[in-house]
Amino acid sequence: MSNEIEVIKNSGEDQTVDSLLRPTSWSEYVGQDKVKRNLKIILEAAKKRGEACDHLLFYGQAGLGKTTLAYLVARELGANIKVTSGPALEKMGDLAAVLTNIEKNDILFIDEAHRINKTIEEVLYPAMEMRKLHLMVGKGPAARMITLDLPAFTLIAATTRADLLSGPLRSRFGASYKLDYYENPDIEAIVKRSADLLKIKVDSAAVKIIAKASRFTPRVANRLLKRVRDYAQVNSKEFVDGESAKQTLDLLEIDSLGLEPQDRQLLLAIIQKFKGGPVGASTLAAALNDERGNIEEMYEPYLMSIGLLHRTPSGRVVTEAAYRHLGLNPPEGLLI
Ligand SMILES: Nc1ncnc2c1ncn2[C@@H]1O[C@H](COP(=O)(O)OP(=O)(O)O)[C@@H](O)[C@H]1O
Ligand SMILES: [Mg+2]
Repeated sequence: MSNEIEVIKNSGEDQTVDSLLRPTSWSEYVGQDKVKRNLKIILEAAKKRGEACDHLLFYGQAGLGKTTLAYLVARELGANIKVTSGPALEKMGDLAAVLTNIEKNDILFIDEAHRINKTIEEVLYPAMEMRKLHLMVGKGPAARMITLDLPAFTLIAATTRADLLSGPLRSRFGASYKLDYYENPDIEAIVKRSADLLKIKVDSAAVKIIAKASRFTPRVANRLLKRVRDYAQVNSKEFVDGESAKQTLDLLEIDSLGLEPQDRQLLLAIIQKFKGGPVGASTLAAALNDERGNIEEMYEPYLMSIGLLHRTPSGRVVTEAAYRHLGLNPPEGLLI
């Protein structure tokens, strides 16, 4: 079997830092209140009916907590979770292997759902809708279709690119939840919680600096916290203060807004090569020697969320705030 399936029992424990930091209860899952509220209703209702929950879709930027949420849902339902991803489901047999392994009320978690290929998707539709698995067995003239009944299960799909999901797939989820960037106080709370769990002493100035540079994203906040801890350790500091947090970020070339060199290069390219825009995504990708998908998925969402970049029908445009952040004078008459 070429795909990876993990069966994680509820008591399963992994020793890596990431799983140490992964919230295992709703109260530890900071923020995203609307999503939590709505999810709890659908889960409660499914539990009361004693049925498998509807299929769920979680979408939003990387590191905002989609996988964590899937595990929380499994825990809440007392269900086992089987994990795979769009790219791992290469061949029909990969999906068939996953589906035939499913037991009643299991959760099947498919990460990077936008990368499921079309043929596989078509097998998924009847599985989601009617719990039927249609399989071709044999080859050539002897080939025939067999249909297997599947037990009741819940598919949870996660994606960073809901826009790339096909309409038919999207319409087969009973509910979709969008994870947004976190509020600053939530990120600060996450940094403090992670520091406690990792037994890192940080002062409040350091927490603020890390939170502000974290792109409102828990995974980034945790990553920065670990780097800041390394720096303090190497410099024999007993705890992380604002000064050493700042020095760590300087070393990593991460600025006060959490921009990394690639983000600044993107803004500078629009300013220097395209007079501030508008410029189309493909042209910009070529100028940066990067892929359009990377630009759309990794850089733009955050730059837009903090108001440094706008998307217009004729292309990307940098804002006055972007010029100022880069220490440049905006051109006369710039209106955004
Ligand atoms: N709401 C949250 N509260 C606290 N920590 C969180 C939260 N969401 C995510 N995290 C942390 O961020 C990390 C990345 O989350 P993850 O669920 O893997 O994101 P995604 O699947 O969306 O890329 C997790 O390991 C967890 O430690
Ligand atoms: Mg994930």
